[in-house]
Amino acid sequence: MIKTDSYALLSKYTQGLAVALGYRDLMTRLHSERVHSLCEEIGERIGLDEEDFNALRIGSWFHDIGKIGIPDAILLKPDMFDASEWEVMKRHSEIGEDIMISTGLEGSEAAARIIRHHHEHYDGGGYPDGLKGEEIPFCSRIVSIVDSYDALAVTRSYHRARSQEEVLEMMLRESGIRYDPAILEVFLEMVKG
Ligand SMILES: [Fe+2]
Repeated sequence: MIKTDSYALLSKYTQGLAVALGYRDLMTRLHSERVHSLCEEIGERIGLDEEDFNALRIGSWFHDIGKIGIPDAILLKPDMFDASEWEVMKRHSEIGEDIMISTGLEGSEAAARIIRHHHEHYDGGGYPDGLKGEEIPFCSRIVSIVDSYDALAVTRSYHRARSQEEVLEMMLRESGIRYDPAILEVFLEMVKG
């Protein structure tokens, strides 16, 4: 459970880690900040209760904190990963869970659960546990959508920046496959304004 007081404490502790990650990989830190702010917006729109809302704020902000445990040769590689590099990169969700739990602070378990499952896919094709549909924590399903949106929209060295329309079309094609259809609908309404 994350109450507002414990939320403030937990975010303070983990922010140091986010700064540390930023020194290794600024792109990931900036991405995490954008994902955090869009997740707050969608959490408010959905009307999450205080406990889930605070867990979402922490889980989204630090969803990629486990990248601190990924070697530079992979973390900072400008090209696409090969299969074995992907396997290493995928470990970041479990490393992130481990880091969050290790704070031992109230609320860290709920946030760690969101972090562990932020790359699960609605159809069961994601990682690390291949969870499906409602087996995936609700807030992880939110982070997954916002995370992809930001990753698709921002220029990476291996693809050009895409228009918002193009990004939203790509995401709609994966409704029910990668993304929770109901949450995706709320998200699309939100970003279209
Ligand atoms: Fe991630």
